[in-house]
Amino acid sequence: MKKKLVILTGAGISAESGIKTFRDSDGLWEGHDVMEVASPEGWQKNPELVLDFYNQRRRQLNDVKPNLGHRELAQLQIHFDVHIITQNVDDLHERAGSKKVLHLHGELRKVRSTKNPKYILDWEGDLNLGNVDSFNHQLRPHIVWFGEAVPAFEEAIAITEGADYFAVIGTSLQVYPAAGLLDYVSAKTPIFYIDPNPIAIPNLRNSLKTIPMVASEGVPLLKNQLLAQFQ
Ligand code: APR
Repeated sequence: MKKKLVILTGAGISAESGIKTFRDSDGLWEGHDVMEVASPEGWQKNPELVLDFYNQRRRQLNDVKPNLGHRELAQLQIHFDVHIITQNVDDLHERAGSKKVLHLHGELRKVRSTKNPKYILDWEGDLNLGNVDSFNHQLRPHIVWFGEAVPAFEEAIAITEGADYFAVIGTSLQVYPAAGLLDYVSAKTPIFYIDPNPIAIPNLRNSLKTIPMVASEGVPLLKNQLLAQFQ
């Protein structure tokens, strides 16, 4: 049976595809204060701005493609039972061929009812005021905004607890509960950490191998190390 490799990814894995990360520039997200465009308060205050912001992000998906980091992670499925837990709302892991992808913070290509979080639709193109569910409730982006619950977290914990190997790629580990997943990695499971600006991870019981590189360089290295040491 293939060993289980669980990978937590963040904005850094998509940076080389041309999608901006959140925290390493000017504190703004594509020119906006994050609370304006990614919080329930922002939605209440100015839903048009929020819809327009995510419409632009959704359109951007048509102009970007998976990079070598995404593609190499998909290749690892030949050797391992790979589970990707991503904080990203893009679909680049899926488009690279990864089969088991859990989105912690939602997906740009889905929308949901403002009244019923379980009423979720696939969505292409723009979402506008007046686009409603079958009960006439406005639809909103299927994105977990700041201050909202993370419904996929329980499933992410279960996946993480079963990991034989765990890797963290391209996340500043500043946002919870996602960053807290590391607490659920079994103490005997080695952790790999790819990021050009790695942080010091506190209270780790596991063996840690830091690869201070961008994803397109670090993931091939991770692949070689896993295949050499653990197969
Ligand atoms: N390859 C790998 N890592 C990279 C690259 C690259 N080419 N370029 C940048 N990075 C790293 C940065 O060093 C940083 O540590 O990616 C990380 C990006 O961190 P953040 O911008 O904070 O993104 P992330 O950790 O994914 O943010 C978590 O915060 O705003 C919310 O919901 C949003 O999912 C997001 C969450």
